[in-house]
Amino acid sequence: MTFEHPSFGRVSNDRVFIFDTTLRDGEQSPGFSMNLEEKLRMAEALADLGVDVIEAGFPVASKGDFESVAEIARVAKGAVVCALARSGGKNDIQAAGEAIAHAERGRIHNFISTSPLHMKYKLRMEPETVLEIITAGNKAARNLTADVEWSAEDGSRTEPDFLCRCVEAAIKAGATTINIPDTVGYATPEDMEKIFSMLKERVPGADQVIFSAHNHNDLGLGVANTLASLRGGARQVECTINGIGERAGNAALEEIVMAIRTRHDQYPYTTGIETTKLLKLSRMLSTITSFDVQPNKAIVGRNAFAHESGIHQDGVLKNAATYEIMTPESVGWSKSSLVLGKHSGRAAFRDKLAALGYTLDDDKLNEAFQRFKDLADRKKVVYDDDIVALVDDEVRDH
Ligand code: KIV
Ligand code: ZN
Repeated sequence: MTFEHPSFGRVSNDRVFIFDTTLRDGEQSPGFSMNLEEKLRMAEALADLGVDVIEAGFPVASKGDFESVAEIARVAKGAVVCALARSGGKNDIQAAGEAIAHAERGRIHNFISTSPLHMKYKLRMEPETVLEIITAGNKAARNLTADVEWSAEDGSRTEPDFLCRCVEAAIKAGATTINIPDTVGYATPEDMEKIFSMLKERVPGADQVIFSAHNHNDLGLGVANTLASLRGGARQVECTINGIGERAGNAALEEIVMAIRTRHDQYPYTTGIETTKLLKLSRMLSTITSFDVQPNKAIVGRNAFAHESGIHQDGVLKNAATYEIMTPESVGWSKSSLVLGKHSGRAAFRDKLAALGYTLDDDKLNEAFQRFKDLADRKKVVYDDDIVALVDDEVRDH
C-alpha cells in the first residue's frame, strides 16, 4: 500500500515515522520543564538524530509555549514541526496554526477524548457532540495546514464502534494522521494490535492516512504496546527520549528504534534515526533536566553494556555477541565495559591488567587475583586506581 502524504510524499508500508514528543508530553511531567534555549538545543539535536516529527508544544497553553513552538518552527530544519491543540478549544487551532506558520513543514495535532468515561466526566458531552467537534476541529486545522493529525484521547478505552465513527469523521474532515493513544497506559499488546487492525479494516479512507501509536507506560508496557501497534498496522510511533512523560512516562524512543533494528526479523521496517546519536540525546536531556536515567535503563543506562560476572566477562572477551544483542557503538557508546567486582573472573582481571599496561607471570597473576578478590569482597566496584595500587604492591612485594 502506498499513498501521498502532505509532508512525507509517497510513503511505503515498511517505513515507520518517528514522532518525538519529548518537548510536549515529556515536558509535561513534574520537574522536566525546559526553557526556550534548552528546548531549541533539544529540537536541533532531535532533527539531527533524524526524527520525522518534533512535537514542540501546546501553543494556546501559555505565551512561553507559543514562543517556543514558533522559534523551533523557525530553526529546526529537516523535521516536521508539530503544535498541539484541543479539537474544540476556543483559540487552540488558531494559535497552533500561527505558531507553525514559519516551519519548513508544519503540522497541527488536534485531539479530543472519545472514551465513555472521559466524555461523561471530563467533557460532560454527548458522543454526537464529540463527533461534531471532531469534524469542525479537523476542518479548521486543514484550512491552516495540509498536514493534520487527530488523536482520540483515551482511545484504547473507547467503545470500538464509536471509535470507528470518530476516525471516519476525522478523515472525512481532512486529517492525514490518526493517532490512537493509550492515554492512561492501561492497554496490553493484544489490545493495541486489535484496535489498529480493526480500524484499518473497518474505516472508509483508512488506506489514505497514517495510523499512529502513542503509548504511556503505567504498566511498563509502553514499548511492547508500540511494537504491537506496528503489527496492527500503525506506521507512526509517538515517543520520548529516555521515556520521559506524564506519570510513568511515554514509550522510550531509543528502545523502540533499537527493537525494530535488532529484531528486524519480526519488525521488517526502517526508520530515519541515526542510532549512533541515541546516547548523545539521552545525555543531553539528562543534563538539561538534571534527571539521570537509572543505571539499568535499556540502551542508554550506565550498565546497559557493562558486565561484572566472571562467566559473562569471559564470554564477552571471546565474542561480544555471547552477551550483547547489539554493539555498544551502534547506539553511541565507545565500547562495552567489564566492571571488576566480586563476581569477576581471572580472564577479565588479566584483560584489565593488560589494558593498564601490566603483564604478570602466572604465579604473580594468581596472587594478584587473590588479593583483588579479597578487595572486591570489601568494595562494591573495584576501580582502575585500586588495581594499579594492588598490582604495584604485588610487583614491589615480590
Ligand atoms: O496521552 C495522550 O492521550 C496525549 C494526547 C494529547 C495525544 O498525550
Ligand atoms: Zn500522552
